[in-house]
Amino acid sequence: MNARDGPLLNDTPSQTARLTVGAVDSTDDTDTLALSALDVDSLEDYDALWWHRESALDADARAALDAAGDAIRSFVADGGGLLLTHGAVEAASHVGIETHAPDAIGSVDGDESGFLVRRAYEDHPIFDGIGTLRPDSAATGDAVSVHYETLYPKDADVLAARTTDGEDDPAKKSVLRWSHGDGRVVGVGHGLADRETDLQERLLDNCLAYVAGAGEDPATVGRPKERAAFEALREAVPDATNRPAYHFTPPANWLNDPNGLVQWDGTYHLFYQYNPAGPFHDTIHWGHATSEDLVHWEDEPIALAPDPGGPDETGVWSGCFVDDDGTPSVLYTGGAGRDQLPCLARATDDSLVEWEKSPANPLVEETPAGVDVLDSIDWRGEFRDHCVWKEGETWYQLIGSGIDGEGGAALLFESTDLVEWEYCRPLLTGDWRKTGPMWECPELLRFDDGALLHVSDYAKVAYFVGEYDEATHAFDPSDDGLLDHGVFYAPQSFEDDDGRTIMFGWLKEERDAEAQWDAGWSGAMSLPRVVSLTDEGTPEYSLPEELEALRETHHSFSDLTVSPDGPNPLADIESDTVEVKLTVDADNVGEFGLVLRETPDGEERTVVRCLAQYRSLVVDRSESSASDAVDDSPARMPINLDDDGTFSLHLFLDRSVVELFANDAQALATRIYPTRADSTGLGLYAAEADVTVERLDVWELSR
Ligand code: FRU
Repeated sequence: MNARDGPLLNDTPSQTARLTVGAVDSTDDTDTLALSALDVDSLEDYDALWWHRESALDADARAALDAAGDAIRSFVADGGGLLLTHGAVEAASHVGIETHAPDAIGSVDGDESGFLVRRAYEDHPIFDGIGTLRPDSAATGDAVSVHYETLYPKDADVLAARTTDGEDDPAKKSVLRWSHGDGRVVGVGHGLADRETDLQERLLDNCLAYVAGAGEDPATVGRPKERAAFEALREAVPDATNRPAYHFTPPANWLNDPNGLVQWDGTYHLFYQYNPAGPFHDTIHWGHATSEDLVHWEDEPIALAPDPGGPDETGVWSGCFVDDDGTPSVLYTGGAGRDQLPCLARATDDSLVEWEKSPANPLVEETPAGVDVLDSIDWRGEFRDHCVWKEGETWYQLIGSGIDGEGGAALLFESTDLVEWEYCRPLLTGDWRKTGPMWECPELLRFDDGALLHVSDYAKVAYFVGEYDEATHAFDPSDDGLLDHGVFYAPQSFEDDDGRTIMFGWLKEERDAEAQWDAGWSGAMSLPRVVSLTDEGTPEYSLPEELEALRETHHSFSDLTVSPDGPNPLADIESDTVEVKLTVDADNVGEFGLVLRETPDGEERTVVRCLAQYRSLVVDRSESSASDAVDDSPARMPINLDDDGTFSLHLFLDRSVVELFANDAQALATRIYPTRADSTGLGLYAAEADVTVERLDVWELSR
């Protein structure tokens, strides 16, 4: 029996009339059943049920559904298919196939709406023959639309969202797929009103065939629990020329800040801001990965998800790990309505896989009285992100904020139990003209010889170094600067078992939102950076020696003279994943540098220009990519030379990621997006005069 044999469910005669027009046209031999008369026996002969409504569920529909709910659920659990379209999508949560009810039920705003198919699902059977990630639908008129917008369905995979008037609208998650027992359920929240276009016919036919059992289910699921499923997700969004090989990236979808970093029971844990709905920032969860060596990461199931009705219902935002006398705990920011407030969760065991949220959430009910906390269109008060430490028996916490008219602020709180917090005062307030109106992700790092406070001011990561006084809990900065001059953002650090302070940061994308959607993934974690303070009290970086495990073929040179007209000493190397270490006596030399990801014909190439006499380094991206969806502006940083005039550069290239460290002190992370598979050439050049390279090491890195 094929899907066409399935009945159309209908609740009341008035809807039957609207439904029958399109439905009978597009499905030849379907029966129509009254929802109110359904029972298990009456469904026996069918493979699939399809319920379409041109309006939201009303009291009658709900009553009919209540009566039919058990029959529908057991029909599906036994392998039957269910297609719910437009107003009927809500039935999934009403009958208990989905835990979270959709939060956006209304009419389509915008004249035209189409579908925005997720890259990971482009081969899903319901999109068979459709051939584009952005199929147009038709004029939508006043049709009802059901989707998940600020919420994320708990049990569904989101297969597609919406375009509205030709623009991607990924937050409107409207094409959903559930498995329930042995059966398949699909919801299509919009776009099928008139069923006039070939696309609409095709999608409908595909959906009916699919729920009735035709076509293989892709191995890819939205929120995997198993390692094999994560691998399938990674394989579904491969992006061979741009997806980093040894920098951590999300299995698919969106990643931003590192969170909850810790080495626990010997294992490194990296949690991160993650949107399972696609490569865009919304419905934030905590993703999770673990590593034994800081280099190779294994995906773990999502650690924290928003709870509808809870203080984190629109997002589980950034936070930190806290060892509460042996109980692994995290403090994070919950978003709900116009509030963003501190919340606590505790792991149920040492694997840090399962977490329980505190019933006391939110721990703090509002921003501190007497502080003129900046508000915004979205938030009653900008008040988020956490850095927690203990002195004696007292916990201290920094929360990122902004004071109206003054600038970004790191607000200091104290507590005896991690649950009840008392506001103390700002540990530091910035000047909005210099470091912006709001500080995200403040973190205080204490070293033997001083302290470093860093804050993310939307654009860059500013640091302040100075003295932190434990007696008064006051921080007195004596110098400031930038932790990185590129796209490294919202970093977080932890002290590992070897006593190293290890920092990760989010490497933002520098290609446009559509290109990120098409790639199916967005955001990379930086390499782990070991941070310390120099004798002069400025930050210094080194890379953990564990990264040496990536090194494969080694090319080394010493006292190499590079001439403007001479050959390229690196002409034989072809790789898009390399580590380069270079030491040059840079007194009185002109421009020299490296060429990365060059095609044989030079169409694509990225040039790292070292302008030592100007104390400047520029990553020239004007020819990095043939695509115009990318940022091709130069990425720059000021550099210093060592006292003896030596300039040293440590560079990591990982497909679209370039991380650069100059003299272990200045850092620059930037992104490049070559389009060609043969953008793998490497070069070393001198522009004006001979340059003597004291030492050059190039390692091709494993991928
Ligand atoms: C920084 C940030 C944080 C916030 C999180 C939300 O990138 O905006 O302030 O907690 O990301 O994802």
